[in-house]
Amino acid sequence: MEIYVDTANIEHIRHAAELGFITGVTTNPSLLAKEDPNVDIKQRILDIHKLVGGHLSVEVISTKKDGMLKEVDEILSWFPEATIKIPMIPEGLSAVRELSRQNIPTNVTLVFSPTQAIAAHNAGATYVSVFMGRLDDISQSSGEVIYDICEIWDVQEYDSQIIAASIRHPMHVIDAAKAGADIATVPYNVIMQMLKHPLTDKGLDAFLADYDKMQSKRNK
Ligand code: G3P
Repeated sequence: MEIYVDTANIEHIRHAAELGFITGVTTNPSLLAKEDPNVDIKQRILDIHKLVGGHLSVEVISTKKDGMLKEVDEILSWFPEATIKIPMIPEGLSAVRELSRQNIPTNVTLVFSPTQAIAAHNAGATYVSVFMGRLDDISQSSGEVIYDICEIWDVQEYDSQIIAASIRHPMHVIDAAKAGADIATVPYNVIMQMLKHPLTDKGLDAFLADYDKMQSKRNK
């Protein structure tokens, strides 16, 4: 399972890119606004693209097909490798169908159920983003939903990629990986939590202390 970083924060993206295992970035209007409501969106997207270079999903904000397609032209004029993030609404699916005819990669976002996921796949989505945290927020098991969707993908041999999104903690990453998601897009703080283990820190402290002991004996 690939790991993307889910943020629009440049410092976090810079550090995540240096870690060596992040292969993409997803953004949305809320993440961009959280960084700076006056952000120059085009510049921020280009800065992010320069830092990571891999997958970058950029979300449209129109709710009508024609408006979405106009935004797509604009985003692709910034950089042609963009993946276009489109909301899971009927007009969005219609735009996805059109973009798929033109071989433009799409990421259908705000997917919460297997039937929405099937519709997004059939419309021609390249990626289908299943929101886990927000399901748990309303007491629906995100683990069951991601598992059902991945099972359908296996049985039907669908080739679109499942992105586990709205990740809130490392257990979501584990559930997504066990279910068979292709990608988890993970906030920076959760990426750092994924790497932490107290026994790693304790073990390293002991190795370094023992090395220091050897050095001081040698210098006596
Ligand atoms: O990738 C979608 C994600 O940004 C939504 O996360 O935590 O706002 O539900 P959250």
